[in-house]
Amino acid sequence: MCGIIGYIGNNPAVPILVRGLQRLEYRGYDSAGVAVIEDGKLYRVRGKGKVSGLAARLAEGHLGSTIGMGHTRWATHGEPSETNAHPHVSDDGASMVVHNGIIENHYVLRQQLQARGYIFTSETDTEIVAHLIQDEYQGSLLQAVKNALRRVQGTYGLVVMHVDHPRELIAARRGSPMVLGVGEDETWVASDVAAFLRLTDKVIYLEDDDVVQVTHQGFAIDTLADERVERLMHQIEWEADAVELRGYPHYMLQEIFIQPETITNALRGRVVASEGMAHLGGLDMVIDRLKKAHHIVIIACGTSYYAGLYGQYVLEKLTDLVVEVEIASELRYRNTTLRPGTVVLAISQSGETADTIAAMREMERKGALLLGLVNVVGSTITRMTEAGVYNHAGTEIGVASTKIFTSQCCILTLIALLLGRFKHLSVTDGMEIVAGLEKLPAQIAAVLDQAEHIRAIATSYAQFDNYLFIGRKYNYPIALEGALKLKEISYVHAEGCAAGEMKHGFLAMIDERFPTLCLATKDTTYEKTLSNMQEIKSRKGPLIAIATEGDTEITSITNDVIYTPPNLDFLQPIPAVVALQLFAYYFAIERNCEIDQPRNLAKSVTVE
Ligand code: F6R
Repeated sequence: MCGIIGYIGNNPAVPILVRGLQRLEYRGYDSAGVAVIEDGKLYRVRGKGKVSGLAARLAEGHLGSTIGMGHTRWATHGEPSETNAHPHVSDDGASMVVHNGIIENHYVLRQQLQARGYIFTSETDTEIVAHLIQDEYQGSLLQAVKNALRRVQGTYGLVVMHVDHPRELIAARRGSPMVLGVGEDETWVASDVAAFLRLTDKVIYLEDDDVVQVTHQGFAIDTLADERVERLMHQIEWEADAVELRGYPHYMLQEIFIQPETITNALRGRVVASEGMAHLGGLDMVIDRLKKAHHIVIIACGTSYYAGLYGQYVLEKLTDLVVEVEIASELRYRNTTLRPGTVVLAISQSGETADTIAAMREMERKGALLLGLVNVVGSTITRMTEAGVYNHAGTEIGVASTKIFTSQCCILTLIALLLGRFKHLSVTDGMEIVAGLEKLPAQIAAVLDQAEHIRAIATSYAQFDNYLFIGRKYNYPIALEGALKLKEISYVHAEGCAAGEMKHGFLAMIDERFPTLCLATKDTTYEKTLSNMQEIKSRKGPLIAIATEGDTEITSITNDVIYTPPNLDFLQPIPAVVALQLFAYYFAIERNCEIDQPRNLAKSVTVE
C-alpha cells in the first residue's frame, strides 16, 4: 500500500523524490519521509501527514544530492507518527530502509535483535530490516541485504541506502511490486511507474525474490539464490493526460465525469455490431479453452468484487456457464474443488491487490486457467495470468473507485456476450446487446447532466448518519457499491442489501432518521422493489429512488427521484451507479470530508 521511490542519477534527487511521492500518495498518505546521501552523510526528513508538509521542510536543503529515496506510508505496524514514518535507520545510523509489505516474523526477529543489544526507536516491522542489514554487513551492501532478507518471512518491496555506499541503491521485492525506471544516466526504483511519470518510458518489473543493485553506471539483478538474471525491458506508453485534474476540484469528480470516455474506450474495437459479437483480442490465445469451459470463478475485492457480482448475473443470463464470485481474501479458507476446465477471472483495478494475488495462486495450484480484467498495464496480476482484458481507462487516482467500476461492468458484459455467442445466444440478441452497450456513453452523460439535481438531493440528506441501499437482481451489486462509495468518502454508516432481504432484518433499522436509496429501474423486479419502498415509507423512512425516465408511478412514493435512461435490464445499472457516485461525492463535499484520500484507506492494497 505504501509508495516507494528511489533515485540515482545526475540530477538533484530531492525534487525528483518529492514529485514522485506526490504521484504515489494515492497508495498511502498518513506520513512520509525522504533520505539522501550528501557529502558522505545520510540525511533524513520524516513527518506525519501528507507529502506537501514534507516538501515544505525539504524545500531548502540537500539539493546537491543525486541519490536518495522516499516513502509515503499507510500504517500497518504502529500509528502514523514521525517516529514510525520511513525511512528507518539501523542502530549504527549507517543504513536506511523504505519498505512496503509486512514482515510476518517481526516479533521473533525483534526479540532476537533486542537480545543482542539493538535499540528500536519505532513500532514498525520495517525497522527490523534496517537492523538485520547492520547485523549482516561485512562491507558488501548487496550481500548484507540478501542475507537479511533470507531471515525475513512475509512480503516486501524495499529500497536500502548505506552511508559507506554513496553511489549505490539496493532494491528488492517479494509479494510487493517494485519496478525499475531506466533513463539516460539515471535510474529510478519505485513501487509503481507513476513515481517517474513521463521521465522515462523504459521499465523493468522485478520478480519475487529479485534483488537489484543500482549505481550511477547501471544496474544488475540477482535472485535471493544468488543467480544473476536478466528481466525483460518494457516500453510503456504514458497517457498524455494520465493524472491531470483537468480543472476539476477532485480526482474523484474528474473520474466520474470521464466515464462516457472510459466506457467508449472499453468498447472501442471490441464489438462487431453486424454480427452481434464481441471481440476481445486479449483472450484470443485462450479462446479454444474458453469455448470448452463450463465453470467460471470470479475473484476480486471491494468494488471490483461488486463488479464481479454484477458480472455473475450477466454471465448467467447470456451464457450457460456455472458462475461463482468469491471475495479473494476468503477463498483461501475454503476447500474448493475445481472442475476440469475451470476458468478463474481475477478482477482488479490496480493489478496489485495482495488478497486477489494470493487467491489466484491457490487457484493456479488447483489447475485453473487464470485470466485477468485489470486496469494497470504490466501490474503483477497481468503478469500472473495467461490472458486477459485491460480496461484502458487511464490511471484512477481517487481512492474510491468510480470509472473503473463502470468499465469493469461493461467489459464483463462483453465477456458474457462473447461466451454467450459461442453457445446459445442468437445473432439478433447479440445485436441488441451491442446496441445497448453503445448507448451507454450518452446515457452516462445524461446522468452527469443532472449533477446539480443530484447535488441538491445529497445536500438535503447530508444531516443523516445512516443509510440503506437496496436493489434486486442486476441492481443488487449496485446497491452494495453505492453504499461502499458513501461510507468510503463520508464515513457515514451505509449498508447495501438485496431488497428482498430487507424484511429479514434490515427493516428493523428504518425510521425517520434512516434514509434508503432504492435502485428501482424498470426491469422484471420493479414491482417487487416498489413494494419494498412502500414498506419503508410505512415506517417513515426517507426514500431516494433511482428510477427509469418516464416512470411517474415512483413519484407517488417519493419526490426525491434521480432518473436514468432506459436500456436492456442488465445495462441500466451502469448509468444508475453513476448517479450513486455523484450522490456520494456531493454528500461528502457537504460534510467537508476529504475526497480523494479518505482516512485509513489506500488505493493499492498490497497487504493481506
Ligand atoms: C473501493 C475500492 C476498493 C478496491 C479494492 C480492490 O472504492 O477502490 O474496494 O476496489 O481495494 O482493488 P483492486 O481493484 O485494485 O484490486
